[in-house]
Amino acid sequence: MYKDTNCGEPRESTVGSLITVAGWVHRRRDHGNLIFIDLRDRSGLLQVVFNPEYSEAAHELAGSLRSEWVVQITGKIVRRLPGAENPELPTGTVELSATKIVVLNKSLTPPFEVSDDIDVDDNTRLKYRFIDLRRPKMQAMLKLRHRVTHIMWDFLTENGFTQIETPILLKSTPEGARDYVVPSRVHPGQFYALPQSPQQLKQLLMVSGVERYFQIARSFRDEDLRADRQPEFTQLDFEMSFVHQDDVMAIVEELYLKIFHELLPDATVSDPFIRLSYTESMERFGTDKPDLRFGMELTTITETAATSDARVFQAVASSGGTIRGFVAPGCGNYGRRDTDRLTDFAKSSGAQGLVFIALDESAPSIDALEDDHIKSPLKKFLSIDIVKQLANETGAKPGDLMLIVAGTSRLVNTVLSNLRNEMARRLELVDENDVSLAWIYDFPLFEWDDDLNKWEPAHHVFSSPKAEHMQYLDTDPGKVLADLYDLVCNGQEMGSGSIRIHDKDIQTRVFGVIDYGEDEIQDRFGQLLTAFTYGAPPHGGMGLGLDRLVAILAGEQAIREVIAFPKTQSAVDPLFEAPAIITDQQLEELHIRVVMPEN
Ligand code: AMO
Repeated sequence: MYKDTNCGEPRESTVGSLITVAGWVHRRRDHGNLIFIDLRDRSGLLQVVFNPEYSEAAHELAGSLRSEWVVQITGKIVRRLPGAENPELPTGTVELSATKIVVLNKSLTPPFEVSDDIDVDDNTRLKYRFIDLRRPKMQAMLKLRHRVTHIMWDFLTENGFTQIETPILLKSTPEGARDYVVPSRVHPGQFYALPQSPQQLKQLLMVSGVERYFQIARSFRDEDLRADRQPEFTQLDFEMSFVHQDDVMAIVEELYLKIFHELLPDATVSDPFIRLSYTESMERFGTDKPDLRFGMELTTITETAATSDARVFQAVASSGGTIRGFVAPGCGNYGRRDTDRLTDFAKSSGAQGLVFIALDESAPSIDALEDDHIKSPLKKFLSIDIVKQLANETGAKPGDLMLIVAGTSRLVNTVLSNLRNEMARRLELVDENDVSLAWIYDFPLFEWDDDLNKWEPAHHVFSSPKAEHMQYLDTDPGKVLADLYDLVCNGQEMGSGSIRIHDKDIQTRVFGVIDYGEDEIQDRFGQLLTAFTYGAPPHGGMGLGLDRLVAILAGEQAIREVIAFPKTQSAVDPLFEAPAIITDQQLEELHIRVVMPEN
């Protein structure tokens, strides 16, 4: 070994010991005759002092050290002089008095400092990711991620799960995104598809009698990227046989509580997890991913609003639309600038407009509201009685602001749920110490796709219709709810799962609703359907986004912050400059001719 001690280890108790450390020169300061360096390794920082009285050669070499050079230093741990201690560092009461230094490697001046306070664009950080990852925050993230998967491995192993790797080179396993494909050299014109998830494989493993499978599985999806999406990401994927929905939920709940309690011991975590049916979640929050750390629930006010003289309300109500709103507490004094900003926000979510009704805080009560207390662009179309009624229905008090959107139910819910999150951010309603974990269950099995003009699976095609809804499968698919559940944390989808269909006939009927042709079914799902005819046990499971979980634990917004080598927003790896063109010879071997788009 090049070292016998890690930089972060020496303490007062080790004063006097002779040690050898190795690491990177974090910083160098020359103080007259003495040269100080902070030496960094994975365990932390250690101050090293070079005094020519102890070793002239070491002192001279130390004078030439630059940031990020790799060195090995031998010396004695001594107590720092009174007043020179650094309470910020665990090693801050001691320093290494160096007698020998060996330069193991030099470094160019790095493109940015190895420090947590850098202001560098993402592209540069990713291009020099090997330096970016040296920063203490990133080192902590890598360790945190490891600890999360370690807890998962231990917990699942103790609970009888077997970890099994499944192929990456496979065939399309759809989860609603485009596939990444790999051409086959030995089978000209044929392609493997990288799995969007190991869904069919884990179901096959249940037919194989594994009963409890898990995998920290890499999944690949070619889809529009956002802060919480990467083209390749990691799931905790698991599947269980002979279980009902509650059994699957119980396992996840125990595991996630363990993870949060161990890794965020000061957080307030929902225990047990909150449970909301999909219908209730949509009704109260307008979304199936509600952030439950604050209130501001939505209310439907279609009937009352439609009785006003406001044309927009009447038109929407008569065309079968919906009018909904929520109350922003204490925002009754919002000026034009504030409301314009909110309107712009609502429009960016697709709304045509946003209706405000501001109630002045000087009103003694809602019952005592007078004309002067009300501000709204629609004021002349709203009688006092209607405003009072709307306030009572939405729960608005004097001093509050009602935010109302009219339109199709899908649009209204999208706009208001986004606006609700935005208001919570503006009003700082979120306690960052709160972790709200919720199950959203009883999702519809299908959703109507206006573009394709047909039913599409709301999640994926393998989820089991609820037994009591089987009767609507052929006649009224929109009514069919499934044993399908999502795990939501602080307004983000953390995972999704279901009890699966394990019967060939039911699976075939579900394919029928989605209008898959016989050939397509055989081509994409033939292996699963065949397996179902050889004794498939009832089974269910989940896929849980690991990157999203680690991001929440690390307090990061974007999952690329918790992935060692992530891609940019345009799916590029700036370090390897991937994707890249391949040689003509490779193309030839693969029997591929590239036709570039014209612009
Ligand atoms: P689903 O498609 O919901 O379900 O994916 C499971 C979870 O994976 C995370 N996730 C992502 N994370 C980062 N980047 C992405 N592009 C991305 N896409 C999804 C989310 C999501 O909840 N086979 C099913 C699971 C099952 O039914 O067992 C599946 O993959 O946190």
